[in-house]
Amino acid sequence: MKDVSRRTILASGGALGAFAMMSPAYARAMTDWNWPASRSVAGAGTGIDPLQVWDPKADPVVASLLEDGVVPEVNELLREWTRNDQPLPDGLPSELKDFMEEARQLPSWADEDKLAAAVDFNEKRGLYTGVLYGMASGMMATVIPQEALAVYYSKGGSDMKPRISKTAKLGYDIGTTNAYQPDGEMIVTAVKTRLVHAAVRHLLPQSQHWSEVAPEEIPISQADVMVTWHSLATTVMQKIREWEIPVEDAESEGYLHVWQVTASMLGVDDEYIPASWDAADEQAEQVLDPILAPTREGVALAELLLQLPEEVDRGILSRPLIGAFTRYVLGDQIAEWLEIPEEPFWDSALNTFWEPFIAVREGVLDRFPGSSTLYWQFDELLRQAMLLFLSEAEPISIEIPTHNNPD
Ligand code: HEM
Repeated sequence: MKDVSRRTILASGGALGAFAMMSPAYARAMTDWNWPASRSVAGAGTGIDPLQVWDPKADPVVASLLEDGVVPEVNELLREWTRNDQPLPDGLPSELKDFMEEARQLPSWADEDKLAAAVDFNEKRGLYTGVLYGMASGMMATVIPQEALAVYYSKGGSDMKPRISKTAKLGYDIGTTNAYQPDGEMIVTAVKTRLVHAAVRHLLPQSQHWSEVAPEEIPISQADVMVTWHSLATTVMQKIREWEIPVEDAESEGYLHVWQVTASMLGVDDEYIPASWDAADEQAEQVLDPILAPTREGVALAELLLQLPEEVDRGILSRPLIGAFTRYVLGDQIAEWLEIPEEPFWDSALNTFWEPFIAVREGVLDRFPGSSTLYWQFDELLRQAMLLFLSEAEPISIEIPTHNNPD
């Protein structure tokens, strides 16, 4: 296996200069906030730009934990808190305990039936969602400038391979049968993630590297969280529709619902959470599409993702195939930004035969127009890409960081 360090990748980051790629569209898209709160789960709102809203409940609590130097003890205590129905461990600072008791409550509008429908959806469609979280959302994260920069310069940036797939892995975990049930783990994961994000808001502005390139003074605003949310939920549902994978209405709604609940559990206000897929598409068009842009850091992260298949024996999976699939799923522009070369064979095979392959797999078409070898290769691509990006990862173990990436 080639030993490619973060530094060598960044140093070879091609023609991209540190600031050159910071899309002016970021500022424009984000300051023209006019997505109607009437289309949110709240149905109405203040109209405040979510770019100016962070997490007023978690942020001061975690900032004082960091300033008091007690985060290592807190992490130690929280390590044993893993199940949704488990009481919080004894010994937590009282402010933190109060915050967590409140944060672990599901929103009042959480609907058991819809959460159950989401489980049905994931049971039937988990293979597709798994691949899409890894290949579409994971790769897309590398061209979301504020996310790529935050990930790169925060503590986890010093070991990025597991880091970049963790957000996608969370997407997969929310599809597990008992995610928000008492014996599940998603409430714990979401509350811990909220604490991590609060820590990052306190720490990253102290990073000179980050401050020099970041498009914002404090990272992970609620607008940013919704951008990432769209790279996960909305993008996956759009691809499922594009590939004409049959999904019952109740299951599609359930899938939306589990993501709405997750946004809320991550601290997003109801007025920013879309109430329907139409509303989500509309918000994504406003906040996600215009800000996608390359950064040197994002290209470096993508490079690590593209190298993943070289490090494990995944049979058919190869860098050219992963590259071609990225181009197929995210388009030429993003592939170019990520310096992914054209792959004439795979590019044309995917363009011509992927949708018929899905149609045959789903019983919509009875004969695959390509060769049986190609059908088998596509089937393996689905299975192995999902394994590669998601299922081999351990359950996410989330710790509050105490410092930034030291490099
Ligand atoms: C940490 C998920 C939005 C930046 C995490 C972790 C998870 C997660 C599961 C903990 C993983 C770990 O311990 O390594 C999500 C989800 C999001 C979201 C589901 C939205 C729906 C964002 C956004 C940003 C961001 C918008 C930046 C703009 C980070 C950073 C860390 C983190 C920097 C900490 C990494 C470290 O420890 O150094 N996120 N995240 N996240 N997230 Fe997010």
